[in-house]
Amino acid sequence: AVLPRDLVGAVRALKQELRAVILAHYYQESQVQDIADYVGDSLGLSRQAADTEADVILFAGVHFMAETAKILNPDKQVLLPDLAAGCSLADTCPPAEFAQFKARYPDHVVISYINCSAAIKAMSDIICTSSNAVAIVQQIPPEQPILFAPDQNLGRYVMQKTGRDMVLWPGSCLVHETFSYQQLVKLKVRYPTAKIIAHPECETPVLSLADHIASTSGLLKYVQQDEAPEFIVVTEPGIIHQMQKAAPEKVFIPAPANNGCACNECPFMRLNTLEKVYLALRDRQPEITLAEEVRLAALAPLERMLAMSR
Ligand code: 13P
Ligand code: SF4
Repeated sequence: AVLPRDLVGAVRALKQELRAVILAHYYQESQVQDIADYVGDSLGLSRQAADTEADVILFAGVHFMAETAKILNPDKQVLLPDLAAGCSLADTCPPAEFAQFKARYPDHVVISYINCSAAIKAMSDIICTSSNAVAIVQQIPPEQPILFAPDQNLGRYVMQKTGRDMVLWPGSCLVHETFSYQQLVKLKVRYPTAKIIAHPECETPVLSLADHIASTSGLLKYVQQDEAPEFIVVTEPGIIHQMQKAAPEKVFIPAPANNGCACNECPFMRLNTLEKVYLALRDRQPEITLAEEVRLAALAPLERMLAMSR
């Protein structure tokens, strides 16, 4: 495709013409974050999607995020720059298997992490994100058993924070599981004054080394408030772009993957580029579509989450 020389200007013009809003996750490449109207974590992005008055939502994130925006906005057009931007974690929870698993626990309330397909949301009672998972579980009466899906690492972290037992679906994110305890210990020896900050999708041994554990927006807030001069960032390094903007005097060290390579970047998030954002707005595709029956079933647990995390 022939692309305009001023891609940023062209995206801005198309955005105005279509009355579109661009929502971007912190794991997007810097250029994409910089063109967005709002950059946030999964909860912030869901809130923005629920409140927007735009006609078109261009979602610079992965499929389950754009799908969430569509669930909340059936009458708006939701565009995803690359339809192949999936999620390894969402893929660890196929609907047919999950239905069988859930049937074994008929008296359990099903809390699903937002990183799952609409079909899994439709089988859930409440959705949560990494920033409200603990608060949502704390609102469930103590005698009520809980089934938590699909991320077992976040599930274990929530169990530890709340003292609740939960049945866990054995899913995980390939990006957060590349971080290793050994690599992190080595890094801490090199940077003894650095604080380790980690996302709860990391495995328990990695989390045990962290000074602070939070969602992406929680980590961003922490580096602005804490006095440490250096931070070892144990999540997808896209978030460092906003950290550098918010605290330019501080140093952010991306945690390496276990073999020392740069595969700590989410390959799905990084499929979106500024060029594809432009093309999606120009062509008004790829578009997210959903069967109304699934959408309605997935909407109820999402609305429950929004109501429980005000
Ligand atoms: P949050 O930004 O909500 O912490 O989620 C992280 C993530 O893995 C998104 O895919
Ligand atoms: Fe999915 Fe992990 Fe990528 Fe987030 S970082 S979109 S959980 S694969």
